[in-house]
Amino acid sequence: MIFHVLGIESSCDETSAAVVRLEGGKIQLLSDITARQEEVHERFGGVVPELASRRHLESLLPVVEAALAKAEIPYQSLRAIAVTNRPGLIGSLMVGVNAAKTLCYGLGIPLIPINHLEAHLSAVLLEGANLRFPLVGLIISGGHTSLYEIQEGWKDFRPLGHTRDDAAGEAFDKGARLLGLPYPGGPAMARLAESGNPQAIDFPRALPSRNEKDFSFSGLKTSLANYLKNHKEYSLPDVCASFQEAIVDALVQKTVAAVQRTGVKDLVVAGGVAANSRLREKLRMALPSSITLHIPPPRFCTDNGAMIAALGCVRFQQQEFVQGADLYGVEVSPSTEAKLARGKHAGK
Ligand code: KG4
Ligand code: ZN
Repeated sequence: MIFHVLGIESSCDETSAAVVRLEGGKIQLLSDITARQEEVHERFGGVVPELASRRHLESLLPVVEAALAKAEIPYQSLRAIAVTNRPGLIGSLMVGVNAAKTLCYGLGIPLIPINHLEAHLSAVLLEGANLRFPLVGLIISGGHTSLYEIQEGWKDFRPLGHTRDDAAGEAFDKGARLLGLPYPGGPAMARLAESGNPQAIDFPRALPSRNEKDFSFSGLKTSLANYLKNHKEYSLPDVCASFQEAIVDALVQKTVAAVQRTGVKDLVVAGGVAANSRLREKLRMALPSSITLHIPPPRFCTDNGAMIAALGCVRFQQQEFVQGADLYGVEVSPSTEAKLARGKHAGK
């Protein structure tokens, strides 16, 4: 079976579309186009939902057209369209979902509603990863920090731990803001950290007990604020390196413990913070050699349409799609637990 799936992502501040080809069970990426909005939100130090939706509205169709043109696939050759419908900013999600519904309706093809967090992890499929389920997945983004045990077919996500307050990416972003660095803070802080000493300042590692499965990052931010209040002069690279080290250590400790507890053989780490090279390095060092670590390349760690299209192929084969009049009922949701569609669900 050969078919083409268009993936659309608009859950936060990236408008992205990609075309993948599924051939003999292998996913091949044909195009991947992303319009970023950093310049829109930078001066506010975070994403402004209203501005994000407006920019998606302007960018979405040109991005979709560019993805199809680059893949040299006409609309008529698409077998289905996969689109993020949860979790995310409601206004942003609505732009992508409404475009996908309309295109699917007009073309007479199915729509595949995609959970953005599940898609982050399945981005490893774009590299042809050989996965052994059940596996442990760590999602670390601007909005989420969660560990799951996942069954065959990217099903049954069993929670193993969550952040109790800020997400790891949010901790980077808030810390960077205190230091006057540009948004998004993660990449800016990581760059400065390269020339700093990670042991210079002993920032706290929250919930250090091995029995504690959750994460917490808000105390770290407070600790940085206090440090800056008490030190008029400091080395910016040292502060960045030490702050980054505290986040990385917490992520590594809880993740390695989860892998050992569950006895899985494979670990997948994804989401914007997975692009962090210190995290990659320390995870590799801490994991037992029997565990295979899968991390998408950095460009597939941040939000992208390719991961949506990749999981779209999996869900399509599992008959998880909606078509015809059932398209009317496809919902968007800020949480992961949304119904896929209000109408009847194909294959169910
Ligand atoms: O997955 P993503 O693109 O969007 C969300 O779904 O949130 O993640 C964005 C987050 C931001 O908080 C950003 O600061 C962080 O990922 N990030 C990084 C790096 N690159 C992006 N954090 C640390 N180091 C990086 N290299
Ligand atoms: Zn994301």
